[in-house]
Amino acid sequence: MALRRIVTDEDEIMRKVSRPVKKIDDRLQTLIDDMLETMKANNGIGLAAVQVGILRRLFVMDLQDDHGPYVLINPRIVEKDGKQVGQEGCLSIPGRWGDVERPSHVVMEALDRQGQPCRLEAEGLLAVCASHEYDHLDGVLFTDKVIGELIRQ
Ligand code: NI
Repeated sequence: MALRRIVTDEDEIMRKVSRPVKKIDDRLQTLIDDMLETMKANNGIGLAAVQVGILRRLFVMDLQDDHGPYVLINPRIVEKDGKQVGQEGCLSIPGRWGDVERPSHVVMEALDRQGQPCRLEAEGLLAVCASHEYDHLDGVLFTDKVIGELIRQ
C-alpha cells in the first residue's frame, strides 16, 4: 500500500465526470487499498478516486465506527428522501467548510470490491458522506452547494 497525493480543487480534473470502473483487477485492489490508507492518513471519512487523480466511479468511506470501511464501485442512487443540513469539508478543499443540505436518507446500489452487487442504506452522517462522495464522481464539489457563508481558516 502507498499514500497517494490528494488533488485539490485548483486542478480541473476535480470538475470532470468519472467513467465507470470496467475491470475489478489487482490494479483496482491496489487503488482501493491506497485510497483507504490515504483517507485514513488525512483523517478523512470519505475519498473518491478522482481525488487521487483517477477518473473512475469509485469511492471509499470510513466513519470510524464499528462498521469498518465501505467501498462503492459504480454506485447508483436508487432512493433519496428527507433533508438535513450540516457542516462539510473536503480533503481536496483544505481549510474551507460550509453548511450543505443533503438527503437525510439515501440508498445506493453498487459493486463491492469483490465485484459483488451491494446496497448501501444510509442515514445521518453516512448519508451526508455518501452524497458528498457521489457528487465527486460527477465533478460536483460541496462548495457549489454551500448555504450561507463559506468558512475559511
Ligand atoms: Ni470531498
